Amino acid sequence: DARENPPVRRVSDWDAERLRGLAAEYETPLYVQDLDRVRENCERLLAAFPNADVRYAVKAHTGRAVLETVRDAGLDAECASAGEVDRALAAGFDGSRLHYTAVNPPARDLDYVVGVAEAEPDLTVTVGAADTLDRLAERGYDGRVCVRVNPGVGAGHHEKVTTGGAAKFGIPYDRAAEAARAAAERFDVVGIHAHAGSGIDPEQLDSHRELVARMGELARDLAAPGAADDDAPASAAPLDLEYVDVGGGFGVPYEEDASPLDLSAVADATREAVAPLPEGVDLAVEPGRYVVADAGVLLTRVNTVKDTPDETVVGVDAGMTDLLRPAMYDAYHPIRNLGGASGESPVEEREATPVTVAGPICETGDTLGKNRALTDPVRGDLLAVGVAGAYGYEMASQYNSRPRPAEVALDDGTAAVARRREALGDLTTVEREADRDRTDRP
Ligand code: LLP
Repeated sequence: DARENPPVRRVSDWDAERLRGLAAEYETPLYVQDLDRVRENCERLLAAFPNADVRYAVKAHTGRAVLETVRDAGLDAECASAGEVDRALAAGFDGSRLHYTAVNPPARDLDYVVGVAEAEPDLTVTVGAADTLDRLAERGYDGRVCVRVNPGVGAGHHEKVTTGGAAKFGIPYDRAAEAARAAAERFDVVGIHAHAGSGIDPEQLDSHRELVARMGELARDLAAPGAADDDAPASAAPLDLEYVDVGGGFGVPYEEDASPLDLSAVADATREAVAPLPEGVDLAVEPGRYVVADAGVLLTRVNTVKDTPDETVVGVDAGMTDLLRPAMYDAYHPIRNLGGASGESPVEEREATPVTVAGPICETGDTLGKNRALTDPVRGDLLAVGVAGAYGYEMASQYNSRPRPAEVALDDGTAAVARRREALGDLTTVEREADRDRTDRP
């Protein structure tokens, strides 16, 4: 029921004692990903979209334990690169559950995926450019293809992640039918695809609905050329599509008081807008963020508190290299002081003060939150940065020669290291290997 599987987990819902214990044991910065919550999110999606294919957009969180959890829950995997396909295979997704979305795909990625398709002929390649089709054909690929369409409408939490309408993605809507029919001469065209963008909030449902309606119309044109008022040549053969994939992008609330997306309302609106689908054609969706975002927190320790004439800056040991979203998109992540500094009063007894939380990177943009009311943080306190499970660890980098953080996965409450903390030596591995290769050369 809804109490056991609430639509959102807030940073305040996490067990503070448990998080303090994990930080003490595994040190900080530390990502904590709760697989039970991932499972609940999958269940909620499957319940909201009962007759649809639900595909997890792997890019949101590629950790092995997460992928296995999603696989067991029954979702397919949508992969953006050879690396993601490789991870999905390692996590046990078979070809019939693999969807590779090729965006200006590097030759190496195509070589790899075409190789995989020889053993796993049921995998599908989603293609958004005529060139990509030619490049697949050149490699001898004649398997399953889904045609990615640029629906001309987009949505998202930031212009940098609004894909629909952006020229880089998909075949323009008014040329899509022709492209799909041409593709069917060389490949097994099984679907059409569009993705509006990421982080669609309840106010952007109209764009989502518009995109979905356009995709439904395209599916009907392809199934029965000439039936509607499309300009298909009378000779065009109908396409036997399996699905219409309307992308992911379901938003989650980051602000503590924001209301969650009503998933069943989105599902109803989607089904209604896409209808009527031709006989045998299913709806497909591919959420990433929704599956993993509120299942993760980033734990970081306060190491410096500095009062300036303008503000109080709380320096912590995680920064934009650990969680890039605030620096890159001005994204908001809730931050909670879990206290724990030795000899200090419990956080509940302290006053809330507005502070800026800043990391150790030499860039002004290296903040995790600005002007936040935190209960008077002092050196040694532990902060939990919430809703960090999607595009958190995934976008981590080694800039400033900072080793990437560790991540623990909680499974039925039991913690296990999912990704070990990088050491200084990891920063130079590829250089040392290059040195060795040079000396080895005859
Ligand atoms: N399908 C396709 C083809 C996509 O490109 C994406 C995300 C998704 C599905 C999943 O979207 P989601 O359900 O996760 O919103 N780094 C950014 C998000 C970039 C998303 C890119 N594409 C962020 O941190 O907000």
